[in-house]
Amino acid sequence: MKNFTVKQLKNLWIDFYKNKNHSQIQDSSLVPENDGSVLFTTAGMQPLVPYLLGKPHPQGKRLFNVQRCLRTNDIDSVGDATHFTFFEMLGRWSLGDYFKEQAIKDSFEFLTSQEYLGLPVERLAVTVFEGDDTAPRDEESAKIWEEVGMPKEKIFYFGKDNNWWSAGDTGPCGPDTEMFYITDKPACGPNCSPACDCGHFVEIGNNVFMQYVVKNAGDKAELLEQKNVDTGMGLERNVAALNGYDSAYEIDVMKGAIETLESISQTKYNDSEIATKSYRIVVDHLRASTFVLGDEHRVSPSNVGQGYVLRRLIRRAVTYAKNIGTDMSQLSKIVDYYVDYYGDDLPILKTNHQIIVDELNAEVKKFNNTLNAGLKEFNKATKNLNNNTLSGEVAFKLHDTFGFPIELTCEIAGQNGIKVDMDGYKKEVESHKQLSRANLSQQFKGGLAGHGEMETKYHTCTHLVLQTLRRMFGDSVEQRGSNITAERMRFDFNLDRKMTEEEKKQLEDIVNQKIKEDLPVICETMTPDEAHKSGAIGIFDSKYGSEVTVYSIGDYDKQICGGPHVKHTAELGHFKLVKEESCSAGVRRIKGILE
Ligand code: ALA
Repeated sequence: MKNFTVKQLKNLWIDFYKNKNHSQIQDSSLVPENDGSVLFTTAGMQPLVPYLLGKPHPQGKRLFNVQRCLRTNDIDSVGDATHFTFFEMLGRWSLGDYFKEQAIKDSFEFLTSQEYLGLPVERLAVTVFEGDDTAPRDEESAKIWEEVGMPKEKIFYFGKDNNWWSAGDTGPCGPDTEMFYITDKPACGPNCSPACDCGHFVEIGNNVFMQYVVKNAGDKAELLEQKNVDTGMGLERNVAALNGYDSAYEIDVMKGAIETLESISQTKYNDSEIATKSYRIVVDHLRASTFVLGDEHRVSPSNVGQGYVLRRLIRRAVTYAKNIGTDMSQLSKIVDYYVDYYGDDLPILKTNHQIIVDELNAEVKKFNNTLNAGLKEFNKATKNLNNNTLSGEVAFKLHDTFGFPIELTCEIAGQNGIKVDMDGYKKEVESHKQLSRANLSQQFKGGLAGHGEMETKYHTCTHLVLQTLRRMFGDSVEQRGSNITAERMRFDFNLDRKMTEEEKKQLEDIVNQKIKEDLPVICETMTPDEAHKSGAIGIFDSKYGSEVTVYSIGDYDKQICGGPHVKHTAELGHFKLVKEESCSAGVRRIKGILE
């Protein structure tokens, strides 16, 4: 049996498909571009969806690569012997070119040829689709497998649950044929099959015959004009299976990470079951965090979207690192290790190395500041429980005040045999949202009436600032708070990261440009519905009453607001941004003056 490192298997893949005249395509960012349907790239095919649907690919019809992937649906299983959140996928595609025969022949050759994996056929088994009312029983694939040398009894037929693949509810999909490695672990019984997860059969590859598409969630799959092949092999799992490891964490890259973690922790990897589990979670989550923080589309920890997943990964890693007595001030050594390991293949990690370390340390510090207080709160709250259930109120407080992602609260509760009232938690989230909306609409409704001349100017200035921020960062930017005195304006808004120097300058420049244009400020009264239709910024789902006032600044801005405002923007003079800082998680605070 051969012994492989991660890099060796990667190189074998690259070599094999180069020799088969496939073009190597760039691996894509972990944060998908132009695809709002997923937070992270979860399979090599994802960036290729338009091409699988028929758009010609600039590099041709036969492609391959190694793609960074992140899947968080199994995050709770990380800690066992096989699961990862981040992994790399060896991928190859035929975009309407060859179909089942070539796909299967190539796969078989890669698995069995001495120059490549050199696996004996006795160690392999495959599965094919058994057929249903969408697609026929895949006897064609079974026949090809037999032709290349797979014994009939090692070809298993299964239904949609096992042998149909799609990346989500919609998009290209189709029946697949999966390849399994037979490990040294004995079969669990006479009925053991590749559908069984006892560990006797380990999936090492998948050919999806992407010949169908689901256009709307719930629709029946329709035939595509183009017959594609989408092949994926999980790199880490393969190395583990091929080397005969009991655990995927024995592969070189993870082993190195575990050793690094041992050098900064009091407890060793093999000291106890909980230690092993904790080590796995920490090295897995920090690998994922390194790639997300260092991604081309840099993500920072926050409370929404990708930033929230990242926050969860880091905070979960920190919680488990505490179990093994890790020196938190040294945690970034794990980042250094991964950047070193992957940096040659992915130079962006080297470029962003310092940023990754800084962001990690900042988030760890943020969490550490509240972790112990939060755990204390948790312990206090769980002393006298009703029905052994933590109330939604406490779960919300842990989230809101102590920064515990709800999943973490559930996990800690689970470890202590305690349930969490999730319905109650969701209700708390909802009522909190309504409360902050009501507060905001109060502000919009004219909490500023009666202010002096300078305050009025600053008030108009906040409108220009909000509008400009939305034009710069998108309509998801909202006012999160505002405070005006005669000396300055303070304004809070949601953004996951610092503004860059250029962005600050741009904000200043645009606001000053609008001041200079001397735009008229007009006040109108209308119903909330009309205001909404006219495109005014405001909070529309709270109770405004039957009429609202809407202030427009030329054609540049329109907001529901109680005023007062200046009549013309030139009255503001000159705007200067004096500070941009973090206000709370995902919220920035700026201070500005008019001169
Ligand atoms: N896209 C297929 C998978 O992820 C190959 O299994």
